[in-house]
Amino acid sequence: MAFSLASRANHFLALGNYFHLHQPSSRHLATRATSYTLNTGAKIPALGFGTFQDSDSQEKTVSQALQKGMRLIDTARVYNVEREVGRGIKSSGIPRDDIFLGTKLWCNDYHPGDVERALDNSLQDLDTTYVNLLLMHYPCTFKRGSDRFPRDADGRMIHGDTTYLDTWRAMEKLTKSGKVKAIGVSNFSKGEIETLINKSSTVPAVHQMEVHPYLQQKRFNEWLKCKGIHVVQFSPLGNMNDFYRQTGWSKEISHMMRVVDQPILKEIGTKYRKSPVQVVLAWGINSGRSVIPKSVVDWQVEENMQADFELEPEDMAQIATLDSQARFNDPSLDYEWRLYSDLEGIDGTMRGKTH
Ligand SMILES: NC(=O)c1ccc[n+]([C@@H]2O[C@H](COP(=O)([O-])OP(=O)(O)OC[C@H]3O[C@@H](n4cnc5c(N)ncnc54)[C@H](OP(=O)(O)O)[C@@H]3O)[C@@H](O)[C@H]2O)c1
Repeated sequence: MAFSLASRANHFLALGNYFHLHQPSSRHLATRATSYTLNTGAKIPALGFGTFQDSDSQEKTVSQALQKGMRLIDTARVYNVEREVGRGIKSSGIPRDDIFLGTKLWCNDYHPGDVERALDNSLQDLDTTYVNLLLMHYPCTFKRGSDRFPRDADGRMIHGDTTYLDTWRAMEKLTKSGKVKAIGVSNFSKGEIETLINKSSTVPAVHQMEVHPYLQQKRFNEWLKCKGIHVVQFSPLGNMNDFYRQTGWSKEISHMMRVVDQPILKEIGTKYRKSPVQVVLAWGINSGRSVIPKSVVDWQVEENMQADFELEPEDMAQIATLDSQARFNDPSLDYEWRLYSDLEGIDGTMRGKTH
């Protein structure tokens, strides 16, 4: 239900919270635990936990994050951390049914004959009988087989014959097996999602994609919302991950100031007694999306968990001015597949620049 500004104000007044309304410079807002309803009817938390990289630390940090109250865990076959994530879930003592766990199929397992086996491998490593969400990691298909990055003698990626639509249809079947509660996609263009909607009987429950103040994709986000597709923002802190300075996927923009160093975020944070990292995460949540920051540092995880608070419209508007159409995660050149072809933040060709 929409919660209008007027009804919010009444709510606060009813609580006698006059201070919140009239002293914005000193506010210290309560941390919320927002969740959203997917088109399957299932709930997904707004605040989640990413597990890409640092496999040695993932068992401990996943366990601790769950114990601290985190309930959304994002992982992927290609991260090579599913075993650690599974152990972390077990050692946390949190009942499996209280956790929203998502993983992703990798591109060498997209052949319809491989999809269920690939899921079973993930379930085995995660030590669970089901995942709440299975995503197709990218729309591109690599050669079928055990090699996750199959390349020819010149180092060029070898593609598979399967299309993402074939894979999607195989994923649809898995929802009937009980091993997968919902299916979705990641790193798709608008046109690719339209193909799924028009040529299958399942609208993706989730699109996991790069969104942060430098890459806001306002129109695409609005379109996804009107189609009933929930957005999970990856790299919600923008170019915070050193990976983006090292891969060369975004070398022409890797010099940009880190999103969280933008002075306006510090200014807004002072108003709420929150850090710029927390403001950036809150911006995503206040936009109706989930965010999955990754951290293996205890105090950072704590900080991220306190990032679900209400931002006033004037602050949301200030953050909107940071949009730079800067996309850091663009492996089009490496994967030899023009990703995001109809979206913001690309400027190049398959065999040329990616930015
Ligand atoms: N679907 C996809 O293709 C895709 C692509 C990328 C990412 N993802 C998912 O999204 C998750 C997050 O993405 P990401 O790792 O690229 O970006 P991110 O979460 O925006 O940034 C991660 C970086 O920020 C640091 N950090 C986190 N919280 C911090 C805090 N409170 N203060 C200071 N630094 C902080 C981390 O530090 P430490 O390293 O020290 O912990 C890490 O270096 C991944 O783990 C993965 O689950 C999905």
